[in-house]
Amino acid sequence: MKVKRIGILTGGGDCPGLNAVIRGVTKPAIEMGMTVLGIEDGFEGLVEGKMHELTNRDVSGIINIGGTILGSSNKGDPFHWPVDDGEKIVIENKSKLAVKNYKGWGLDCLIVIGGDGSMHISSQLMKLGLNIVGVPKTIDNDLYGTDLTFGYDSAVFVATEAIDRLHTTASSHHRVMVIEVMGRYGGWIALGAGIAGGADVILIPEIPFKWEDVAEKVIERSTKGKRFSIVCVAEGAKPIGGQIVIQEKDKKRTDPIRLGGIGHLVGKKIEEMTGLETRVTILGHLQRGGSPTPFDRILATRFGTHAIEVAAKKKFGQMVALKGDKITSIPIKDAIRKKKLVPVDCQMIRTAVRVGTSFGNNEITGW
Ligand code: F6P
Repeated sequence: MKVKRIGILTGGGDCPGLNAVIRGVTKPAIEMGMTVLGIEDGFEGLVEGKMHELTNRDVSGIINIGGTILGSSNKGDPFHWPVDDGEKIVIENKSKLAVKNYKGWGLDCLIVIGGDGSMHISSQLMKLGLNIVGVPKTIDNDLYGTDLTFGYDSAVFVATEAIDRLHTTASSHHRVMVIEVMGRYGGWIALGAGIAGGADVILIPEIPFKWEDVAEKVIERSTKGKRFSIVCVAEGAKPIGGQIVIQEKDKKRTDPIRLGGIGHLVGKKIEEMTGLETRVTILGHLQRGGSPTPFDRILATRFGTHAIEVAAKKKFGQMVALKGDKITSIPIKDAIRKKKLVPVDCQMIRTAVRVGTSFGNNEITGW
């Protein structure tokens, strides 16, 4: 039996390049004679039965557009479905509805574009009989088994531009500028943008920092006559012995924890310890919005076209992945084994240290 009807959904937080994947899947699928159903608002649409057929026209002219034409949600986990009874939130399992809709729509395969949360949900749905092919998405770049996720390059581009802009105002006012970037429990965005933007201090979750070492770097620059400093902090960074800063807990989300706020703590402490005037910028969702970079458009298109080839060959249960300069695929169960964090002794960190960047922990990076 040939694969004739496929569904496609975008799960979790959005990122630039989702539309490029949708286009990369749909165009060749239609060319191969398949019908493509676009499921709306991620897994929420699979449970609630929200979908529409995608035509060539729907996916034309969208490669450069940010967000997702299908909509997304991080509250639609079929196995962890929040029901608000007016007094409290009760978590229910709605996976039977997801299976019912998948079967009712006559799907042969579902393409899931998402991060680790979506790949976890996919592996559970596969156990209930769904055929799934995954596409790795996230600005955080923390999905295991692929060298890169699409969306990361665009987020680093935005964060780098922000650092460039902070540089000029920092230099005019002789201030310390702290910028907090996203990334959850991984430091990839802070590391990429910090190196590209020439940050003086980069703080990432993988290297818990010492307040004294952060202050020392800023004071050292000041005594050398450099009258400003740029500190790039990942939202998941924390001082040795300290706690990660949580902005909010929301039971309705698949992952209830919303990070954010470490930047303010870092800014306050630097000002106290150095006496230098400090300002804090939290970059937030600007990193997720807008057009994908050319790199992400190409990567997303390569992922999408490869995903439909994998589906057509009925290699279900695979997630497409970048390995070196090749697009390949790996079992979804391997991709969710662990998170891809920044290795502390990697070349990127060494590179940054060689050009004088501090990671706020001289012991760990004191090679
Ligand atoms: O996973 C992508 C991401 O942007 C993280 O970097 C960030 O912590 C989180 O999503 C923010 O989620 P939300 O859009 O729900 O606030």
